[in-house]
Amino acid sequence: MTRTCLAVILAAGDSTRMKSSMSKVLHPIAGLPMIAHVMTAVRAAGMRDAVLVVGRDADKVTKAGSIAEMTVSSVLQTERRGTGHAVLTARDSIATGYDDVLVTYGDVPLVRPETFLAARAKLAEGADVAVIGFHAANPFGYGRLLVKDGELVAIREEKDATDEERKVTWCNSGLMVINGVRALSWLEKIDNKNAKGEFYLTDIVEIARAEGGRVVAIDAPEAELAGCNTRAELAALEASWQTRRRHELMLTGVSMIAPETVYLAHDTVLLPDVLIEPNVVFGPGVTVETGAVIHAFSHLEGAHVASGATVGPFARLRPGANLGEGAKVGNFCEVKKAEIGAGAKVNHLTYIGDAFVGAGTNIGAGTITCNYDGVNKHETRIGENAFIGSNSALVAPVAIGNGAYVASGSVITENVPDDALAFGRARQEVKPERAKVVRERALALKASKKAER
Ligand code: UD1
Ligand code: CA
Repeated sequence: MTRTCLAVILAAGDSTRMKSSMSKVLHPIAGLPMIAHVMTAVRAAGMRDAVLVVGRDADKVTKAGSIAEMTVSSVLQTERRGTGHAVLTARDSIATGYDDVLVTYGDVPLVRPETFLAARAKLAEGADVAVIGFHAANPFGYGRLLVKDGELVAIREEKDATDEERKVTWCNSGLMVINGVRALSWLEKIDNKNAKGEFYLTDIVEIARAEGGRVVAIDAPEAELAGCNTRAELAALEASWQTRRRHELMLTGVSMIAPETVYLAHDTVLLPDVLIEPNVVFGPGVTVETGAVIHAFSHLEGAHVASGATVGPFARLRPGANLGEGAKVGNFCEVKKAEIGAGAKVNHLTYIGDAFVGAGTNIGAGTITCNYDGVNKHETRIGENAFIGSNSALVAPVAIGNGAYVASGSVITENVPDDALAFGRARQEVKPERAKVVRERALALKASKKAER
């Protein structure tokens, strides 16, 4: 039988040290608010019900934390009176009755679902409280896990600890799972008689033990339990997230030449045998299929790259860019809301926006789809196996047929039928010997100016 679990996410902190106009849990990591990372891990660990304990930006935090496939509610903690008080703010949800109550923090975004599951497994085995601990490189400021005869007997906050207790490096992450049947009665026994005058959730360890409860601690890697208090810590969390995700992707068969220079979004999908060259940035919503290559210094967002396609170097794919199999988008090209058909080539210095480019078509260097009239956007449709000569301007709305040719330097304002050749430029004139006349006139002018001085 699977046990039910309520996740209580503490997110009422005031974020002072972030020096931000918004709650810190709304700050993004890999383009996704921190709180949504936490919720994603909670969901991945099989939980379906959650309550967010919110303070500032309550509505925005609730919205960002409300993810698919979960029932998420929120309660407002109006005064910040400690972690024990914060959990009790969610009293009504806890009273609904769950086997387990997980307490986790909105500003600890890298925790993995496996860690939640490991703590819950302890309750399934008969524990009443399972605290998630870690071995700290520098334990200063953390609650210390005090062990006696192999049992966790108390968590002591830095300010309340003796010198001896401060030497302990096994620390409290703040995350724990509590027996849902007994949680409320234990939480209600927490008082605020301590150095900070706060209601410490950590007191639950001694309270539960005094009532015959079984308390255990499990271990998780420190990096996973890192919190966020400052912008510098936010950047460090981003770096750790990126390192972890690149590593996961490489293990699934993605090649990266210089992984430390590749920036992924929370939802970047890279299939096996994709090659990512150095200095590539993925914004949200990108999928790259098997065998595609993203060359150096490219920026992709909201784009789909089919198998065997190549992008860059120095290419920009904006939302709605959809590259077919084996398509090529080369250096200094920008593609927005446009389909580039299978095997089509957009190789150099080009803007393709609000367009459809058929399979096998070649777009010459410097081609521009003029999609905007200053008010509205218009579409350019180019058929299959067409050829657009270099430096052409295609003034939308306009359609170019299958197999059609557009002469270099054309400004195309009218549709071009299948297999037609269109010129949209002045006819060339050649004047024999005329260059000499022009040159002599210029030289004479220069000489007369010199004589004047
Ligand atoms: C807490 C733990 C400490 C642990 C540390 C890990 C207690 C008493 N101490 O300390 O043992 O080592 O976390 O980082 O639990 N929050 C609220 N409302 C409140 C108070 C806190 O929502 O009234 C939230 C904060 O936003 C934060 C989390 O709870 O996400 C922890 O609060 P914080 O003040 O950072 O706890 P610490 O004193 O660091
Ligand atoms: Ca903290």
